[in-house]
Amino acid sequence: MKLIGLNREEVKAALKNEKVTIAVYGMGKMGLPLAAVFAEHGAKVIGVDINEKVVEMINRGENHVKEEPGLDELVRRNVEAGRLKATTDGVWAAKQADVMVILVPTLTDERGNLKLDPVYDVAEKISRGLEKGDIVITEATMPPGTTESLIPILEKSGLKLGEFGLAHAPERTMTGTAIRDITGQYPKIVGASDKKTLEAVIGIYETINRKGVLPMSSIKAAEAVKVFEGVYRDVNIALANELAVWCEEHGLDALEVFQAANTQPYCHLHMPGAGVGGHCIPVYPWFVINLAKKTNPRLTKTAREINDSMPHHVVELTVKALNEAGKPVKGSNILVLGLTFRGGVREFMKAAAKPIIQELKEWGANVYAYDPLCTPEDAKRFGAEWKEDFNDIDAIIITADHREFKELDFERLVKEMRSKVIVDGRNVLEPLKVENARFIYKRVGLDPQIPR
Ligand SMILES: NC(=O)c1ccc[n+]([C@@H]2O[C@H](COP(=O)([O-])OP(=O)(O)OC[C@H]3O[C@@H](n4cnc5c(N)ncnc54)[C@H](O)[C@@H]3O)[C@@H](O)[C@H]2O)c1
Repeated sequence: MKLIGLNREEVKAALKNEKVTIAVYGMGKMGLPLAAVFAEHGAKVIGVDINEKVVEMINRGENHVKEEPGLDELVRRNVEAGRLKATTDGVWAAKQADVMVILVPTLTDERGNLKLDPVYDVAEKISRGLEKGDIVITEATMPPGTTESLIPILEKSGLKLGEFGLAHAPERTMTGTAIRDITGQYPKIVGASDKKTLEAVIGIYETINRKGVLPMSSIKAAEAVKVFEGVYRDVNIALANELAVWCEEHGLDALEVFQAANTQPYCHLHMPGAGVGGHCIPVYPWFVINLAKKTNPRLTKTAREINDSMPHHVVELTVKALNEAGKPVKGSNILVLGLTFRGGVREFMKAAAKPIIQELKEWGANVYAYDPLCTPEDAKRFGAEWKEDFNDIDAIIITADHREFKELDFERLVKEMRSKVIVDGRNVLEPLKVENARFIYKRVGLDPQIPR
C-alpha cells in the first residue's frame, strides 16, 4: 500500500495490518535488526543483500549478526510468520515494495573520502522498480547533501521527485545495541523531500520507536544531525585526552578529577584513552572538514590531530614504564591486548593497536598480541605474533576494553611475566588491584612516579 498522502495514524494502521511492504537494502549489522523490527511490527519485509550466504541464512530463519542480543529470536519468529524474507534481487524487491530503505555501507577512507558505490548501486536498482507513491529512505550515515545526490538516479525511473518521496532517517545506534536503540532509546531523526513524505515517514518510525520522531526541516539537516553527533564525541574525547595528558605531567589522576568535575551538570568530561577508532567517530569529522569551503573548522581538525596522537602517547608511556623497570624497549617482549577498536565487537577500522604495534617494532621490541574476538592471522596482519599466555612478557598494553581484560588474573601475571609493567590504554583495570600486585602501572591520565 502506498503511503504518500496518508496521515501518520493511517500509516501506522496500514503497517500494523500487514498492508505495507518494506525493502531494506543491506542485511548487515544495522540492516538485519531494522528489517526484523519492521516485520515484528507488522510490515511485510524483504531484505536485500548481494551476499548469497546471508540471504540463504535469513530465509532459513537464521541470524548472522551474532553481536546483537535478541536478534536470533526476532529473525526466526518473523521468517516463520512469513513477514520477513530475503533476496539478492534488488530490482524485484523494489517492484514489490512501497518503502525502500538504503542501509548498505557508505565506505570511506580514514579521512572521510567517500566511495558511495554500494549506495549508488542500490539507487540504480530501486529506480528500475520505483512506482508512483513509493518512498526511498536513506538510513546509512551520509555527509550532508548526499541523499539528494540520489535524485537523478532515482528519476531514471521516469518519475519526478514529488511523484515518489525521498527521506533521510539516520541510524543512531551501534553494533550490539541496534534493537534497543531502533525501538526506543532515542527519538528517530527524519528529514524528507516534502510535507506528505515527511508525514508518512513519521508514521513509519512512530510505529517502531517508542521515543517517537524528531522531524527536521530538510533532508540535509537530518544528515547533519548524525554527523554532528560524531563530531561532538570526537572533539570532547580530544578535550579529555588533552586534559588527561596534562594531569600526567602534574601528578594528578585524571579520572578522579573528571569524575568529581562531572558531578556539576554543565560538565561532561569524557573518558580519555589510547585513540578513537571505528567507522563513525573518527570519520564523520572529515565530512565537516572536507565540505567546508569558506569556513575553517579548526577545532574539529585539532581534535582529530589530538586523538590520532594518542597511540603514540601510549607508546611513550610504555617506554617510560619499561625504563622504570630497568628495561630498554629494544629486545623487550611486549604483549598488546586488543586488536579491535573497542570491546565486544570485531571491527578494526582505526584500531589503536595497529600504530602502537608498528611504533614498538620500530623501537626494536618483540611485539605479541591477543584478542578474544580475533585469530592469529589478524595479529599477523597487524604485524604482531599471536600469544595466549604471559610467559616472558615484559609489558602488557591494553588497547581494547574487552570484558576478558577487565578480569585479568594478577596471580597468573605475576607468575608468568618477566617484568611487571602494565599500561592500561582503556582504563579497564582497578588501580588498587594493579598496585597491590606491585606492578609498574600507567594509564592515559595517570603516570604515577612512585618510588619502589
Ligand atoms: N555498524 C554501526 O555501528 C553503524 C552505526 C550507525 C550507522 N551505521 C551505518 O549503517 C550503514 C550500514 O552499516 P553496517 O554496520 O550494517 O554494515 P555491514 O557491513 O554490517 O553490512 C552491510 C551489508 O550490506 C551489504 N551490501 C553491500 N553492498 C550492497 C549492495 N550494493 N546491495 C545490497 N547489499 C549490499 C553487505 O553484503 C552487508 O551484508 C553504514 O553505512 C553506516 O553508515 C553503522
